[in-house]
Amino acid sequence: MELIYAPGLDSIIACETALSDVDGERGRLVIAGEDVEQLAGRAGFVEVAARLWRAAGLEVPADLAGALGAARAAAFARMPCLGDALAAQDGMDALRGAVAQLPATGDLAADAIAATGAIAVFAAAWARGRQGLAAIAPDPAAPHAADYLRMVAGEAPAPRARALDRYLVTVSDHGMNASTFAARVVASTGSDPVSAVVAAIGALKGPLHGGAPGPVLDMLDAVAVPGAARAWLAAELDAGRRIMGMGHRVYRVRDPRAAVLEAAIGELERAGAATGRLALARAVEQAAAQLLRERHPDRALAANVEFYTAVLLDAVGLPRALFTPTFAAARAAGWTAHIAEQRRTGRLIRPQSRYAAPAGQPAQ
Ligand code: COA
Repeated sequence: MELIYAPGLDSIIACETALSDVDGERGRLVIAGEDVEQLAGRAGFVEVAARLWRAAGLEVPADLAGALGAARAAAFARMPCLGDALAAQDGMDALRGAVAQLPATGDLAADAIAATGAIAVFAAAWARGRQGLAAIAPDPAAPHAADYLRMVAGEAPAPRARALDRYLVTVSDHGMNASTFAARVVASTGSDPVSAVVAAIGALKGPLHGGAPGPVLDMLDAVAVPGAARAWLAAELDAGRRIMGMGHRVYRVRDPRAAVLEAAIGELERAGAATGRLALARAVEQAAAQLLRERHPDRALAANVEFYTAVLLDAVGLPRALFTPTFAAARAAGWTAHIAEQRRTGRLIRPQSRYAAPAGQPAQ
């Protein structure tokens, strides 16, 4: 067997999937068989979750919206038994601790629905708790995205709920990203889906993966006016820091999800329900892309999904500490579909390492 050394695994295809396809050269993303631009304008999160789970071979209840509502209610009922998990400082730590306490039933479809419902409930309860507010009980009959927003903010005006739903669809799945890979590694050992989702939450927390949108908003606040963008960004790069929301491991052009979210923010602004940050965000993106072109002429570094995630979730009314947990609430659909797919078609994921101890150290 020929061994290939590929740190970062960029050049390795680790599995086959029917769930999503990322074409990094052309900037095209297909989720559950449909281009993200069409899908996000047409289908809601519940429909997309159903399509992902079916594509992974799971039997999905005919009334999935009702089943997800019941899962939210069950998660809320479980909250008094979670100890101090939801008191964690960081929202992803809270999710990791709370989701870890869900039971794995042995029924992959039931566990996928339970985890997806629970993440929304736990994230919302955590966000309220850190403001000293009581958690709001879910409404099992409400649409998933609208209920999430209401559990966080106490209300869910239609334009905002629609924009949030579009976000959840847009980031529901994305090929072999780090958190999905983490989930598939755990699932490949035959471990349970709850353990796999907990691993995925841990991976998503990192700033190189799902942790960027909060810092993007901090950046927009710091820049404050479009004319200040170039100087501010240049100082960041001079200090050796990366520009959050720019660059991607796979895309060599602008991330197609950036355009979908940018359009959704435009719609919110036209409905008078946004924060007016879009013009500033566009100016910062342009200045960042220009600077990165100058400094890395051989490497295309354009806006990724996190850039406009920050602006959209802020406009929807979510606090910035909740951005990454909200990403988890959406990606839970993709994670659990990949877990099922891995269990059905995959093989134990177990790469090799190259021994590179300092010279003179005895081999073990
Ligand atoms: N700001 C400044 N420089 C960046 C950059 C950014 N956002 N992204 C990449 N670069 C630089 C790297 O430092 C590297 O420079 P070097 O060759 O001088 O060391 C070069 O561009 C090539 O980097 P690349 O191989 O593309 O990085 P990667 O594939 O390991 O990283 C990301 C991809 C997403 C981790 C990276 O672009 C990044 O850190 N972005 C900011 C965080 C972010 O938005 N994360 C959300 C991802 S969806």
